[in-house]
Parts: sequence; C-alpha cells; structure tokens
Amino acid sequence: MNILILGSGGREHALAWAVMQNPKCDKLIVAPGNAGIAMIADCAALDIEDGGSVVTFAEENSIDFVIVGPEAPLAAGVADRLRDAGLLVFGPSAEAARLEASKSFTKEICDAASAPTAAYGHFTDAEAAKAYVRDQGAPIVVKADGLAAGKGVIIAETVAEAEAAIDDMFGGAFGGAGAEVVIEEFMQGEEASFFVLCDGTDVLPIGTAQDHKRVGEGDTGPNTGGMGAYSPAPVMSDAVIAKAMNEIIKPTMAEMANRGTPFQGILFAGLMIENGQPRLVEYNVRFGDPECQVLMMRLGGQAFDLLHACAEGRLAEARVNWADDHALTVVLAAKGYPGSYEKGTVIQGLDGLPEDSFHMMFHAGTSEKDGRTTATGGRVLNATARGATLQEARDKAYAMVDQVNWPDGFCRRDIGWRAL
Ligand code: AMP
Ligand code: GLY
Repeated sequence: MNILILGSGGREHALAWAVMQNPKCDKLIVAPGNAGIAMIADCAALDIEDGGSVVTFAEENSIDFVIVGPEAPLAAGVADRLRDAGLLVFGPSAEAARLEASKSFTKEICDAASAPTAAYGHFTDAEAAKAYVRDQGAPIVVKADGLAAGKGVIIAETVAEAEAAIDDMFGGAFGGAGAEVVIEEFMQGEEASFFVLCDGTDVLPIGTAQDHKRVGEGDTGPNTGGMGAYSPAPVMSDAVIAKAMNEIIKPTMAEMANRGTPFQGILFAGLMIENGQPRLVEYNVRFGDPECQVLMMRLGGQAFDLLHACAEGRLAEARVNWADDHALTVVLAAKGYPGSYEKGTVIQGLDGLPEDSFHMMFHAGTSEKDGRTTATGGRVLNATARGATLQEARDKAYAMVDQVNWPDGFCRRDIGWRAL
C-alpha cells in the first residue's frame, strides 16, 4: 500500500516508524515531515489544513491510505474531503472532531451519555461567568471553549484569578477560541491518558500513558505540550480501564453514533482518577504527543494493521498483541520553551545513537541544513526507549539524551518519577 501521513511532529515520526515496519507498506510519504522523518520516508511540502490540496496530492501520488496526525486538519474537515473523494482515511470527520475542538460540546455529550466528568457551567458573557465563579468558589478551572493549542486552560487558585482569566478570555486573549468559556470544578486525583481506537461501531483500547505537562522538574512551571511520557500508566489498572470503557468511552461513542456523527479514529481520553474512579478531563481526537511515541515503541509494526482495521470498520476482528514491556520518552526542547526560544541552533551527536526496536530518537522540530541537523521548533527531539521494566526503559532513554550535544537545548531529568 501507498501511505500518506499528515503532520511534522514527534508523533508523526513515531507513526511513520511503526508503519514502515509493516510489510504491507510499499511507499510512505509524510507531509510536511521533518529531518528525522526524511531519513525513513519521503517528505513533501503540503498545506495539510487545505482539504483540496491534500486530495489532489493523494490522487497524484496514488495514495491508498491517509493517516491524519494533528487535530487542526481534522477540525478543518480534511478527513471529510478525503473520504468524499473516495480515499481511505484514519481520522474523524469535522463533526466528530468537535469532541476536541469544542469543550462545551464535549460536556453536552457527557451529560447525554451520563459519563462522569467535572461539574461545569457554559458561558457566552463575562458577568454570568463571574457570578458562577463567585458562587462556586476556588480552586476552579476556566477554559476557552475552542482549540487554543493547549493554552486555553487556567487553573485558578482564587476567585480573583478566575475572574481575571474570564476577562482575558472574553477580551480576546485566545482569539475566537475564547468567545465562549467553560468553567469547571477542579478535580483532584492522578491524571492518565487512555487511547482507544473507534471505528464508529466497535472500540479497541490500545494503551495507557502518563504525560509530564509542566516544563520543570517535580511538575513545576508553566504548561507545555508535554515534556515526556511513559506507557503503561500504573494508575490505569484493569478495573479502572473497565470503568473508563463502560462509563465513559462506550457511552460517548454510542451518543456520537446516535446523533448521526459516528467517531472514527483514535479517541484520546484525558482522565482524572481518584479512589479508583476515572472521570473525564477532556477528549482529544488524535494521538497525544509525546504519548504516541511510547505507544508506537510498544506496538511496533502491528500499529499499522490496527489503524487500517479501524479505518475500514473492522475493529471487531482486530486484536492487540501485548508484550509485558514499558516504554519511556524524554523530550528535548529549545532553551526558553514554552516561552520564546532561538531557532536554527545546531544539534550534534545524533549519528551514533542506537536505532532498533528498543531505541529511537524521534524528531519533532528539526530540519536539515548544509548536512547539519538544526532545531526549528520548541519541542525538538524525543529520546524513546523500551525495556522489561520502566527503570530499564528510563535508563536507556537518558543514555540516548546524554549522547546528544546540543548546548541550546534542555530536558527534564525526572521523567517517570511518579511511577518509579
Ligand atoms: P486540557 O487542555 O483540557 O487538557 O487541560 C490541561 C490540563 O489542565 C489537564 O491536563 C489537567 O492537568 C488540567 N485540568 C483541566 N481541567 C481540569 C479539572 N476540571 N480539574 C483539574 N485539572 C484540570
Ligand atoms: N501531550 C498532550 C497532548 O498531546 O495533548
């Protein structure tokens, strides 16, 4: 098969790496890709949020199957355009992608499906939102309704902080994403990421992970896209997984199908677990980044068969072959991230790194310039390893980190601390 993956992050490098291991893959193109992806597949410049361009590109390159990595093209309806053109696609319709693109929509679905989640209010004007906050008290969580690149959530410790966040959001700090605001009860507990393939009818859990969202060690400092992850997440016991499937995932999928907007793709549920009870924090309609890196490291080439079965509506017959293993990834980011950082700095030491089914340095924001690898983004590399124990995976991942010579980069040294 000829396969096209859309995206350019560590997530897409990991997807490409897994797909390439499957003998069914004859040709792989990643658009736009990055310097690491270019070492294993063809990369092509393409505006991946423009459905018309993606359809034309897929037709011209005889693509049989398109895998959409990030949320923006999904929310923009690129999967719909591809399906309308008769192409096989992994990824939800724009209607189903509202599970990520609109927080108030997700809350409405949870209400209809009786899925456990935080109590909330949904507001279109600041005064009503502030009255709700004063009534509920702090801590409380203020969220811009729309896609805000992971930045639209404020955990307010005081009522005054919540009121200031409300003013910011309605004042346009998050653009159109903040025209509506959701205010939520602050949930206590331990967070985990749960990944379930859904083909519109059937569901298949494919793994759990824990991310490290804060930039600093010990989970301090500002939020980022994720500084490291490991899989599996110990807090996701079989009992918690069963509850999450029966109380949250399956009722959500049934509600989406009942509305005539079935969800097809990967449903990434952010869960808060307290005393063995999971509650939904949020849905994403794509793989997590960097969670995808650890899931792909564990699944390997079978990941392609699972995504393909999902896109063809054959999940009922699909099975996951689990190994009793652990994977861990450490993100190397440009100094200054998640604030401003320098671009174009040179990274050395990548050539001698091990690359096998236990070790991979997945690239995110990199490009190749005059034979040298340079950093072009905030999150730049993902040192990813697998082992029989989490400790072994962690030691291997940090051994890779230590071989990289990049004075302008940094990483957290404590990835995995919660589980270890
Ligand atoms: P989100 O963008 O919705 O993933 O939110 C970012 C992060 O904020 C989550 O990963 C949680 O750590 C935290 N968060 C969001 N909503 C809540 C909530 N209701 N209670 C506690 N923490 C939350
Ligand atoms: N790592 C969190 C996310 O991808 O949303």
